[in-house]
Amino acid sequence: MAKSSTFTCTACGASFPKWSGRCEACGEWNSIVEDVPLSAGPPSKSLGARKGAAIRLTDLATRETPPPRACSGMSELDRVLGGGLVAGSATLVGGDPGIGKSTLLLQAAAHFAQGGLSVLYISGEEAAAQVRMRADRLGLAQAPVRLGAETGLRDILTTLDAERPGLAIIDSIQTMWADNVESAPGSVAQVRAAAHELTAFAKRRGTAVILVGHVTKDGQIAGPRVVEHMVDTVLYFEGERGHQFRILRSVKNRFGPADEIGVFEMTGRGLAEVTNPSALFLSERGKPSPGSVVFAGIEGTRPVLVELQALVAPTPHSQPRRTVVGWDGGRLAMILAVLEARCGIPFAGLDVYLNVAGGLKIGEPAADLAVAAALLSAREDVALPADMVVFGEISLSGALRPATQTENRLKEAQKLGFTQATLPAGGKAGEVDGLRLTRYGDLVEFVGAVFAAG
Ligand code: TYD
Ligand code: MG
Repeated sequence: MAKSSTFTCTACGASFPKWSGRCEACGEWNSIVEDVPLSAGPPSKSLGARKGAAIRLTDLATRETPPPRACSGMSELDRVLGGGLVAGSATLVGGDPGIGKSTLLLQAAAHFAQGGLSVLYISGEEAAAQVRMRADRLGLAQAPVRLGAETGLRDILTTLDAERPGLAIIDSIQTMWADNVESAPGSVAQVRAAAHELTAFAKRRGTAVILVGHVTKDGQIAGPRVVEHMVDTVLYFEGERGHQFRILRSVKNRFGPADEIGVFEMTGRGLAEVTNPSALFLSERGKPSPGSVVFAGIEGTRPVLVELQALVAPTPHSQPRRTVVGWDGGRLAMILAVLEARCGIPFAGLDVYLNVAGGLKIGEPAADLAVAAALLSAREDVALPADMVVFGEISLSGALRPATQTENRLKEAQKLGFTQATLPAGGKAGEVDGLRLTRYGDLVEFVGAVFAAG
């Protein structure tokens, strides 16, 4: 068999057919190493078909039944996984250091184990005694989880092969070390090699594998981004340091919907599930004040109400500031431009701050109208009614476009005691008892009606 090796840059992860002294992709010198396969043995005979032979799609046995899943009983986690953990799947859980990944996964491990799954938790960061202490603190010391403190990939694979657990948790992928790769643990080449071996193991043995990965905002550590395309499911654990809320978000899921979120609260005894996130996100709301607007959003399959806060003030600088937390800065610039061009409301000379309360990150265009309302409310110093929700997408022409799942948003608002909703005209939206709906065709009409006095 002809030997076909590839070469990988240990700095950026780019791969090349030939070795060279300098990486063409990132410009780093002396960073390219040869990839050596870990297990070079005879080809596996377990495949039914001849290796490389193609199979007709219709000849494959159809799986009418959905893939077998194990449920943890933590409903926020199970929903984000798409209804439970799929056997043989590989999942990446990414997040900032200290956000609570190890806590979440230790709790998940205990719950899966109590549900009858055999679980192996391998920590490369903490000693077994430390993990045990954490389990004590979480009240999970009695859970039948097996622990390992190990970083050598070869030993881990040997252990996994011998134990064949239903679920293996690797905390974290940055600490894993494959002795066949010539670079330090945490480098892109090491992370990639470890993720590759572990996901291959998951597929081969039907063990579900969860990999923990640290990401930093400035991307200094070799992040788990290179791992994202290797795994079936990518979850991100997010939250603001100062807040106790934590959000587990699926950004990719081969076995369920993406963009689903699970909401948790970090307490002194670990993570508690938050089954009614709207109530939580609105709990810090004071009395109606200028710049505050409640947006009726959808996260995955679930409606979530959240408060948007805007502050608009004359700038002391020559270049006014635009600062956004929890929303897209480019989208804010667009809304400001539409307000200026279509409604004749300038923001030049004014600093603009926009904040999504509670540490949630919103990606929906349906937040446009709520953002515009918050900005105008702050600029005009007019408080909007406290019992009103707002949603709808704004186009560059200033026209308002109906949002998806209008009825779900309205029902959630009604459930939480709101009595009015402001939304775009058109779209098929059912009436909801006890909720007064006001619809506008474009932004000019909305501004005229709501901020007429301004
Ligand atoms: P950890 O799970 O170690 O974070 P990660 O694995 O993402 O680096 O969580 C660390 C933080 O969580 C730490 O600052 C303390 C806090 N914490 C609590 O508030 N309550 C708890 O019960 C536990 C276990 C941790
Ligand atoms: Mg950790």
